[in-house]
Amino acid sequence: MNSARFCRWLLAAALFVILASTVFAVETNSPREHLSLDANWKFHLGDDWPNALRLDKAGSSGGPAAEKFNDNSWRAVNLPHDWAIELPFDKNSDTSHGFKPVGPGFPQNSIGWYRRTFELPASDAGKRIWLTFDGVFRDATVWVNGWLVTRHEGGYYPFREDITDIAHFGGKNTLTVKVDASKFEGWFYEGAGIYRHVWLDKTAPVAIAPDGIFVYSKFKNNMPEGMAEICVQTELKNSKTNSVGSTVNCEIIGPGGNSIGKTSQTSDLKPQADGQIKSSFFLFKKNDEIDFTTTAGQTVASHTPKLWSPEDPELYKLVTTVEVDGKVVDRKETEFGIRTFAFDKDKGFLLNGQPYVLKGTCNHQDMAGVGAALPDALQYFRIAKLKEFGDNALRTSHNPPTPELLDACDHLGMIIMDESRLLGSDRENLQKWADQIRRDRNHASIGIWSVANEEFSVQSTPQGGNVARTMQDLVKRLDPTRPVTYAAPVGDTFAGINGVIEVRGWNYHPGGDMDKYHAEHPAQPNVGTEQASTVSTRGIYENDKVRGYVSAYDVNAPPWAQTAETWWSYFADRPWLSGGFVWTGFDYRGEPTPYAWPCVNSHFGVLDVCGFPKDNFYYYQTWWTTNTVLHLLPHWNWPGKEGQEIKVNALSNCKEVELFLNGQSLGKQAMKPNSHLTWNVKYAPGTLSAKGYDADGNVIVESKVETTGDPASVQLTPNRATINADGEDVSVITVSVTDAQGRIVPVAGNKISFTLEGAGKILGVGNGDPSCHEPDTYIAQRTVKSIPVNDWRWKLADVPQKGSLLPEYANDFDDSGWNVMKPKTDGATGEQVLSEGQSAVFRAHVNLTEADLANPAVQVRFGGIDDHGWIFVNNQFVGESADWSAQPAYDIKKVLHAGDNAIAVGVFNESGSGGLNPDVNVELVGQPAAAEWSRSVFNGLAQIMVQSTKAAGEIKLTASAEGLKPATATVTAQSATPRPGVP
Ligand code: GAL
Repeated sequence: MNSARFCRWLLAAALFVILASTVFAVETNSPREHLSLDANWKFHLGDDWPNALRLDKAGSSGGPAAEKFNDNSWRAVNLPHDWAIELPFDKNSDTSHGFKPVGPGFPQNSIGWYRRTFELPASDAGKRIWLTFDGVFRDATVWVNGWLVTRHEGGYYPFREDITDIAHFGGKNTLTVKVDASKFEGWFYEGAGIYRHVWLDKTAPVAIAPDGIFVYSKFKNNMPEGMAEICVQTELKNSKTNSVGSTVNCEIIGPGGNSIGKTSQTSDLKPQADGQIKSSFFLFKKNDEIDFTTTAGQTVASHTPKLWSPEDPELYKLVTTVEVDGKVVDRKETEFGIRTFAFDKDKGFLLNGQPYVLKGTCNHQDMAGVGAALPDALQYFRIAKLKEFGDNALRTSHNPPTPELLDACDHLGMIIMDESRLLGSDRENLQKWADQIRRDRNHASIGIWSVANEEFSVQSTPQGGNVARTMQDLVKRLDPTRPVTYAAPVGDTFAGINGVIEVRGWNYHPGGDMDKYHAEHPAQPNVGTEQASTVSTRGIYENDKVRGYVSAYDVNAPPWAQTAETWWSYFADRPWLSGGFVWTGFDYRGEPTPYAWPCVNSHFGVLDVCGFPKDNFYYYQTWWTTNTVLHLLPHWNWPGKEGQEIKVNALSNCKEVELFLNGQSLGKQAMKPNSHLTWNVKYAPGTLSAKGYDADGNVIVESKVETTGDPASVQLTPNRATINADGEDVSVITVSVTDAQGRIVPVAGNKISFTLEGAGKILGVGNGDPSCHEPDTYIAQRTVKSIPVNDWRWKLADVPQKGSLLPEYANDFDDSGWNVMKPKTDGATGEQVLSEGQSAVFRAHVNLTEADLANPAVQVRFGGIDDHGWIFVNNQFVGESADWSAQPAYDIKKVLHAGDNAIAVGVFNESGSGGLNPDVNVELVGQPAAAEWSRSVFNGLAQIMVQSTKAAGEIKLTASAEGLKPATATVTAQSATPRPGVP
């Protein structure tokens, strides 16, 4: 080392830098809290309050938006929640969305209401309170304490509001969300509801701005050699009305947990303004010479970066603290990776300066059993499954992902193509695109941004090009570190978006078009944004149009698409293409190409909708991993086909493969790279086996498929035998039907019933059968018995405009001389007996038994009160209504007694004609009946997901089926600290 030089920078930097060797003492006194709002929601399906939203006066919205609304009869749910998955399949609903009766044509199922309350202690006064939704499908109207907070259009972007002004400190707050899934955005299953997390963040008035940290690494010439610079931008928010002096401290912690360096900078923040601080860490190898002077906010450290890659996902941590007047007012940890990404026109994708073939898959966000509402554990499950066949990249088609998917990719190692939902340079779209980039840009896994997918109408126009350029420019401003592409479904076309985009994306079109385009535009790098769309069904070896199955021999693809072998052998020969993304990793609901009903999910996956491998899984594993692979297909259960020829394929990366039937060699064949081998074999039951040889003729692997016996027992195999008792964690359990020798019966279709005991619950079931119409989830339904309240009488009277008593409300008031109301006739909105400005009292009686009152909830529901109503039961005020279009319900159990009960309503009619709709019922709401869970296996396999509660203990799942030996699996829920949440 040149010690003279080393001393020079050390002196120059001494004013600003403290070289650290140990981790900062962890600051626990930061006021920031990041709290989950996922638990304890109430949910109601149906738009029973179409006029709830009022825009004339602040805080005047009615129905569930009002603080006083009674949601007792609503169902309890936790987030993430997707109500579309709960609906039965319906042949008349949209094919591409998976035949769930939601969206256009199904208004009764397309609007959902969510409510919950939360407490804020009085000591929070003075803090800023933020509400963040990671994603709601779709259009959300959000109220807090009766105030309209936001109307967010769209189903995939996050949105956030500062609700400090309207929060109740030292008391209860009410949060209401109306979710409107009446419109589709995509052409695939999209779910419905609050299907991602919701958060409440509390910060000091001077704090790090939301998504206000950006940390990235830089190397000279984008080659990870020599010194690395870690650049940090910190945006601060000063909500105070005075200027504030603040100090921002940044510390980098290495993958091993050691402190690598710290910076510290002070700045003056203007009143109610944002400020930005830039810091840099220069990391150099121990014996490297460096020659520069650091300035404020810069530090140097001797540290050789551990580079992030899918194979070695090393992560660093940035710890940011903010101090005001010597006190810590904020602290945040941000994970990041040190690595370089680039696309080279000749060498293709470069990771850390080296050619790296993208072996990717595109994926939608739904899964068996849960629809679009994936607990975090399933994000990790899915990424791990994809990696099993060598997948190293994932495209979030065609929308911004959930942040936990990105966390899983950072930690497990998967390069992300992060895609927007729509092309557009209008203000709203650019704002959403900016929000996506700012939220996601710290993730180590993000390798490239995609401005859009297949914008058929505009992609080749100059305007399409202009808009894409504007979106690309925005990326460059917010994230100068990553390239940008567009998923283009065109061949040799340069006009429009392709002419302006940094990396040419290819959806399909392998062949002459690609070579021609490359020759004509040699300076533009390329990537296979979407390829294959091969269709196959797990365990099926013949196309079957009636049942909706496609053979898994890798022979079927729609006209625009290719088999796995066709696209991959083309790409494997052309490094400049950078590799590509298979459509798709997992099957998903909707797009049942090449069929329609009875098929309800796609056949494009390498894995089925549960994550069970199809045969193409082994094709990719053969050519995408360094494992020694030898896989034979089909299965060997073909009774009735004795003596007939059956095509047998071997998928293998051995030099040669030899096939045997019942010990007799059927010949050895040499394997061509990126292809497969075929034998036509006369079927005889028994064992089909194969040996794989290396270049020297040594057997390096053996494989076999056997004719099994009949189904004899059920087996349960959890992917994780121990999960966390945090109320969120999930064990994914494979259900298989085996013969007497324990071999999976590849044609079994037995129906399995499940029971669960202990500290857990069943989340969902699936089996990967694209034509199965059995439910994925079973809801414990509450029984509701309605008792009509008849014989209403009424009289004009002055009614106090509040809940104060009138003699006419008393139980024994003599109303015998009052007007008698006609019973409601079908379709009528009720008797409109009041003219504008009039008020009246309406009375009726209902007889209830002790048994009626033993129900967990008893409520009175009105067909309508036009315009304002004050409701009394047994002379006690139970609630009021201000929305003439609502069918309000009030919890009255507490004020009821066995025998005669009087119901009285004071009504004021503000405009037009009005009155009380005499369709009134007392509803007895019973205990939810336990749901009975079942699912058939499909070709021998099914899946059941079990979720923990917050109680530690054993979860015992039993699976039984007629004529089969049952099985029990035990999953241990170990004590764990649940995610901090809002009480
Ligand atoms: C593509 C499209 C995908 C999916 C696929 C099916 O053109 O981008 O979303 O529809 O076709 O092959």
